[in-house]
Amino acid sequence: MTYSVGYFIGSLSARSINRTLSKALVRLAPQLEMREIPIKDLPLYNRDLDENYPPEARALKQAIANVDAVLFITPEYNRDIPGSLKNAIDWASRPWGTNSFNRKPSAVIGASPGKIGTAVAQQNLKGILSYCNSPQMNVMEAYLQLTPGLIADDGEVTDEATEQFLRDYMSEFEQFITRVLTVLPRTTVPSSMDDSQMESASKASA
Ligand code: FNR
Repeated sequence: MTYSVGYFIGSLSARSINRTLSKALVRLAPQLEMREIPIKDLPLYNRDLDENYPPEARALKQAIANVDAVLFITPEYNRDIPGSLKNAIDWASRPWGTNSFNRKPSAVIGASPGKIGTAVAQQNLKGILSYCNSPQMNVMEAYLQLTPGLIADDGEVTDEATEQFLRDYMSEFEQFITRVLTVLPRTTVPSSMDDSQMESASKASA
């Protein structure tokens, strides 16, 4: 079975090193059907629009519904994820009771020019995805220091060890998706706790 993966690029920059990383990941995972889920045209989330979701936000939710899993490829901004990515997650998680990430397998990866390689942003993103009830790949982790020339503009990785690492990462993600969706397919899981109950439960424990 070929799984489809929707990937989010957390950067809006045309020169994004995370976009370059996404090209490498697509090249190294021919076994997965990889599709970008764009976030740049989303307005800022406003709950006043929950009854009348804008077309960009509806398209976002549909794009997530159309894939088996999601992959976040993100920079770190001030030790967190960029606001544009958080905004997209907020749209996708709403309206209440229709959280698009519920039981949708996910993984997180990111690149930065610095040595920490987006580790702090990824850690924060994992907390957000936990709240959204997305089963997450815990191992492997991938914190990339993207030095100039390591990945060419077309996504070709120039260092063999890095190339193998990224190939292994995508292969591990495919196995993770298989494990999650084979044990209990997302669409047929009897819902012991739906979105609204999850929200009430977390309110009750707060
Ligand atoms: C950064 N950068 C950065 N890098 C990092 O490793 N940790 C950080 O907390 C931050 N903070 C930060 C904030 C803001 C507002 C900007 C613009 C940049 C540097 C960042 O890693 C670098 O610009 C990357 O190239 C951004 O990724 P993209 O856009 O090239 O994919």
